[in-house]
Amino acid sequence: MSKTIIITGGAGFIGSHVVRLFVTKYPDYKIINLDALTYAGNLENLRDIENAPNYIFEKADILDKDALERIFKLYQPDGVIHLAAESHVDRSIASPLDFVYTNVIGTVNLLNTAKHFWKDNFEGKRFYHVSTDEVYGALGDTGFFTEETKYDPHSPYSASKASSDHFVRAYHDTYGLPIVVSNCSNNYGPNHFPEKLIPLFINNIITKKSLPVYGDGLYTRDWLFVKDHAIAIDLVFHKGKNGDTYNIGGFNEWKNIDLVKLLCSQMDKKLGNAPGTSEQLITYIKDRPGHDRRYAIDASKINKELGWKPSVTFEEGLSQTIDWYLQNEEWLKHVTSGEYKRYYEEQYKGEEG
Ligand code: NAD
Ligand code: DAU
Repeated sequence: MSKTIIITGGAGFIGSHVVRLFVTKYPDYKIINLDALTYAGNLENLRDIENAPNYIFEKADILDKDALERIFKLYQPDGVIHLAAESHVDRSIASPLDFVYTNVIGTVNLLNTAKHFWKDNFEGKRFYHVSTDEVYGALGDTGFFTEETKYDPHSPYSASKASSDHFVRAYHDTYGLPIVVSNCSNNYGPNHFPEKLIPLFINNIITKKSLPVYGDGLYTRDWLFVKDHAIAIDLVFHKGKNGDTYNIGGFNEWKNIDLVKLLCSQMDKKLGNAPGTSEQLITYIKDRPGHDRRYAIDASKINKELGWKPSVTFEEGLSQTIDWYLQNEEWLKHVTSGEYKRYYEEQYKGEEG
């Protein structure tokens, strides 16, 4: 059955992989990429599909109610997949209000617009909110986040995402809006903006800059290849139960320092460096305030109910990711000019090893 779907944040890291998957897998769907093109949004991520007949780009801010109304009126969407957000924890520590505006108020604007346009007929409609495992807070050495884990966010980013999750569920409970939510672990892969650990360190190895590891480096994250997240989003959008939440994760925990050492060794091989060359760039720097010690997702619900599991090992996914960055140095150069330089200097000032 043909559908019209608005994907917000489709020019960003995960959003661009979701847009590509939907545009190529569902030629009878109309896919509208609604994105404000902030520093994190980049239409170069979608060059290969930008002329597809079922793809439309709309530059719009989810804070702009009039723009949302215009776009809903024009395209009459059956579904929304909402990924637009401010997504970087360190930026949220520096500028929390930006996260309240986009992640909380922007999400409520979008909910209001969907509710308004669908109000007499929720049949066949779906509002899918893409969220994060960070809303659950931090784990000790053992245990996993399940869909029932109590929310306990610690950073302004995770607090804003937790708030938006609550609003989405409140619109379901209060107004009957058909919703689904997923909470995913750390993604990695092509097109990841180089402010986040893996692409930042790949770029720094290429440009021979230090690798700034926060604190003792023993913080643990669960890493998932971005294309596997996009596949999970496709399944949850089409087959997830109305009103339900699905945790998505890689079953793949790494302490930061072990991950960085693996990355260094893969980079050394690909660059033809002597073993150990990149590791010499590792520099321990001051910790991130409120740094969550460990995240780990229990993804058994989506596995049992929807048959999803990650398709690549971390070593394979990381190798593909490095290859992509080495083959796309122009992309890297474009996104690391201008505003990025100012951000980098401010974030890591006085910390160069
Ligand atoms: P990203 O920062 O790479 O991309 C965000 C996109 O949203 C950009 O294209 C940006 O231009 C757009 N955007 C930002 N503010 C906007 C606004 N006001 N109006 C319209 N568009 C706006 O983010 P990402 O890493 O791709 O994350 C996408 C979503 O997935 C976010 O909601 C994030 O919380 C969630 N998530 C991310 C991860 C991860 O590891 N990256 C993991 C779990 C969940
Ligand atoms: O868990 C899902 C979340 O993963 C998403 O919701 C966020 O949008 C996404 O940014 C990511 O958040 P993290 O804070 O976990 O990702 P980041 O890449 O910023 O950091 C990963 C780990 O590496 C974390 O423990 C902090 C550490 N780190 C990060 C940077 C940027 C460093 O040690 N040095 C760094 O320079």
